[in-house]
Amino acid sequence: MYTLLASLFAFVLVLLLPAGAAAQTGNAPAGKALWESPATMCRNCHGTSGEGGFGPDLAGRHLTVAQFRRAVRQPWGIMPAFVESQVSEQEIANLVAYFDSLPPGAQPGPWRFTVPDGAPRGQQLALAAYGCAQCHGPTLDILRQNMGAVAADFEWVKRMVYDHTRLIAAHWKTVGEEPPARARMGNYAPSRLPESVLQDIWMFARDLGYRPFIAGRLGAGVTGTNGVTYTLTIENHGLPNRGLTAEELTINLVVPAGASVVGTTGSGYQGVRADAGLKANVAVWQVAKMAPKEEQTYSITLSRAGTAADNVRGVIRWTKPAVKTGPVDEAVIAPAPLTSATQ
Ligand code: HEC
Ligand code: HEC
Repeated sequence: MYTLLASLFAFVLVLLLPAGAAAQTGNAPAGKALWESPATMCRNCHGTSGEGGFGPDLAGRHLTVAQFRRAVRQPWGIMPAFVESQVSEQEIANLVAYFDSLPPGAQPGPWRFTVPDGAPRGQQLALAAYGCAQCHGPTLDILRQNMGAVAADFEWVKRMVYDHTRLIAAHWKTVGEEPPARARMGNYAPSRLPESVLQDIWMFARDLGYRPFIAGRLGAGVTGTNGVTYTLTIENHGLPNRGLTAEELTINLVVPAGASVVGTTGSGYQGVRADAGLKANVAVWQVAKMAPKEEQTYSITLSRAGTAADNVRGVIRWTKPAVKTGPVDEAVIAPAPLTSATQ
């Protein structure tokens, strides 16, 4: 009897609710996991726990699912619009539940990057006005790399910014990169980011200099009779006849403390030296140049395997083309996976 009454009551409630309000209920832990995962970059503007920063605070604000959805799909201002494949309807409800579970902050957090003194106009726009550089970094490094890979002109930039979610997968295919499960940047609206402004941002990147798309990947250590061998593949992902060639490269691989180099393969090996930037001993190779679509393989055999704390990793540097101002361009080589199963 009680259950019958309860379900009758629930039925009447459903009838009374406005259409569309029978929306998904959110799952707070799932919302938190999405917010903090590499699949989204919202936190670069809204803070690691939605405390606010470049963008408004979201924690404890108790926005409704409808308000939150509207802000994400049709932003009011300069935020890019995110589509269903980037943040689904259920995930929006999960994010709302997550922020509902948090107390409101006393005041917004700091910006991830502030505007340096004397910043050129394009950099001011990218950092402070539109927030591009809150994700891309003050010198737009990865952006300059993708532009350098395809010799991007302004038409290309426009397409990638205004029609991002539809076109980005094709770009990844062009440069032979493994696409992440979902695009993390949304679509900018020309009404809020006019072409002339985007042009200033693009010219800032172009004047700093495009950079070659050099990437290195380490395989897991393989144990043999005389030690543990790590294989490194280096590739220039640029398009043939369009992408930039890197010149005078050095490949630096960190040797875990206490391990010694038993042997190496690949030409240009220079031996082991101390590296101030990496604060470690590094095995060094020199390469004259790497043109688009060139690939090289190197290996190093060590007396012992690296551990989770100090596994073989490194950095590739080049002298040409050089960035005009700011930090030197370099490509980071992520630590080798610990076992081949994790490759
Ligand atoms: C480039 C920085 C930036 C990024 C990245 C960003 N936002 Fe925003 N967000 C803003 C700004 C700025 C606003 C204020 C409205 C505007 O300008 O569009 C805003 C507004 C919002 C609002 C409305 C807040 C309110 O007070 O009504 C929500 C909700 C929101 N963003 C969620 C998200 C989610 C979810 C993501 C990731 C999928 C995201 N944002 C990514 C900058 C950003
Ligand atoms: C939420 C962080 C974020 C913001 C804000 C952002 N981007 Fe991106 N952008 C990315 C990421 C990540 C990619 C790689 C593709 C992806 O995951 O969407 C990308 C890709 C691009 C690309 C395609 C080439 C490439 O490097 O993949 C261009 C061009 C670009 N962004 C320009 C801009 C401009 C201009 C702005 C500001 C108006 C901006 N971005 C704001 C994160 C961001």
